[in-house]
Amino acid sequence: MIKKYFDHPLRNLNSFHVEERADCIIEFDHAEELDQIFAEGQEPENWYVLGGGNNILFTQRYAGTLIHPAGRNITVLSEDAEQLTVEVEAAVEWDDFVAWCVERELWGAENLSLIPGNVGASPVQNIGAYGAEAKDVISRVHYYDVTQRKHCSLTNEECHFAYRDSIFKRELRGRAIITSVEFTLSKSPKPNLGYGDLARETEERGGATLGNIRDAVCAIRRHKLPDTAVLGNAGSFFKNPIVDKDVAEAMMAKYENMPLYPAADPEKRKLAAGWLIDKAGMKGYRTGNVGVHDRQALVLVNHGGATGGEVMALAHQVQERVAEMFGVKIEAEVNVL
Ligand code: EPU
Repeated sequence: MIKKYFDHPLRNLNSFHVEERADCIIEFDHAEELDQIFAEGQEPENWYVLGGGNNILFTQRYAGTLIHPAGRNITVLSEDAEQLTVEVEAAVEWDDFVAWCVERELWGAENLSLIPGNVGASPVQNIGAYGAEAKDVISRVHYYDVTQRKHCSLTNEECHFAYRDSIFKRELRGRAIITSVEFTLSKSPKPNLGYGDLARETEERGGATLGNIRDAVCAIRRHKLPDTAVLGNAGSFFKNPIVDKDVAEAMMAKYENMPLYPAADPEKRKLAAGWLIDKAGMKGYRTGNVGVHDRQALVLVNHGGATGGEVMALAHQVQERVAEMFGVKIEAEVNVL
């Protein structure tokens, strides 16, 4: 069913819980309903997709239409002795999908436990944590192409996935509305425990079963990351910056304990933005209603009553401080509207 809301408050539709409103929100259940919503001559103006609102910062009234998918079906498409492919509609909570996999002994999504957001958003920025990314399990993405008024799909390779990046942030930006995602999960164990404390935390729970890995990931996340129900935030506000190898090596010579990760390009390295912000002395910093989280400096928080503008002012302050101290530019991961 298609539902329309006008002059709608956004406070409960964005995990930063900022008080803004949207001119219009259109909610739909079935992909086919998009044909009607975008019928010639009736296209909503200045539209944007609002999923769970977990990676978005509203800095002003949204003068346009927010398109909000509401379909929540999970359908098994195929299965053999080795793997299972499932199609999941956009509005399913990402973590409900991970729990669904873990309950059925399906491997591949467990390291991505407890990431806030909806399944429809997972391919857009190729969500990732603890050495895994959504691209490792996505086999196909179904979307509606507004420009062509056509239902389309792309294979994993065609999505051009990279670190927090995909075709949906580039060529298809402003054009595609993701309606469902197909995932292929493995039936044989594939523990991926190489990141940080994950191996130790899993061992402490009795070894590498799917349930133990999920519990370990949830425990690590709950310890470091604020609960959006208590403290408005959008997870990592910044992306980890990718810099030239020479720049990274010069920094390593100065800061021996600096975390450093490989990047897809062998001539580049990925730095930990959280470490840079922390080292720059901003972890736990608070100004007015906003602040830098005191357990994970990559996360900006709304201490209550903040506007999106206040969060952005803090973000600029953090960027400037990091640039001054390290000469490195950190970019927002969150979509700022
Ligand atoms: N660090 C600090 N101080 C901090 C934060 C981090 O020194 O305040 C250091 C840590 O000690 C560690 C390194 O920086 O050596 C990396 O920290 P962490 O393992 O917490 O991961 P991250 O790089 O800060 C990324 C993702 C997170 C994801 C974690 C775990 C991005 C932008 N963020 O953070 O994703 O949970 O890895 O895999 O890539 C999100 O996207 O919303 C998110 C939370």
